[in-house]
Amino acid sequence: MKNIHNIKIQYRFIGIILILFTMELVLNSCEQDEIVPAGPIFIDNSCNTNNVSFIHFVKPIIEKNCIFCHDNSFASGGVNLEGYENVKKAAVNGAIKKSLSGIMNSYINDDCDLRKITAWINQGSKNN
Ligand code: HEC
Repeated sequence: MKNIHNIKIQYRFIGIILILFTMELVLNSCEQDEIVPAGPIFIDNSCNTNNVSFIHFVKPIIEKNCIFCHDNSFASGGVNLEGYENVKKAAVNGAIKKSLSGIMNSYINDDCDLRKITAWINQGSKNN
């Protein structure tokens, strides 16, 4: 009687293991479906950095992210970013690039904005 009871417990144990094993297989197969890429890795091409315009892109980006700490009345760190001439000065002397690879980077949330400013500086900081 005791033996039969033990065997029942053993079968139940084996059953549970099999169920867990099957669930593991099902879960793993789902995971792998997601991991296998359907095609080439998605690249966001919507950020156009060709011939970036100061008026249309750089100025609004600076006004959105930087101006409240860097304007005529409050130039943090001695850097004034109000108006083309001031921005150009900070672009040409390398201050903007340097700052954007450091702590000021945290004030720009949009990666495309960052790429646009950098491209505009590389393209000669034009008043375009
Ligand atoms: C919340 C206020 C604040 C915002 C927003 C801000 N800055 Fe600054 N910035 C500062 C302060 C304060 C300093 C001075 C830091 C220091 O001297 O260590 C500074 C310094 C700088 C400098 C000089 C750094 C150097 O090494 O001389 C530049 C260039 C600069 N910021 C650019 C920017 C740009 C570009 C943005 C927008 C993406 C921006 N800042 C947004 C507060 C701000």
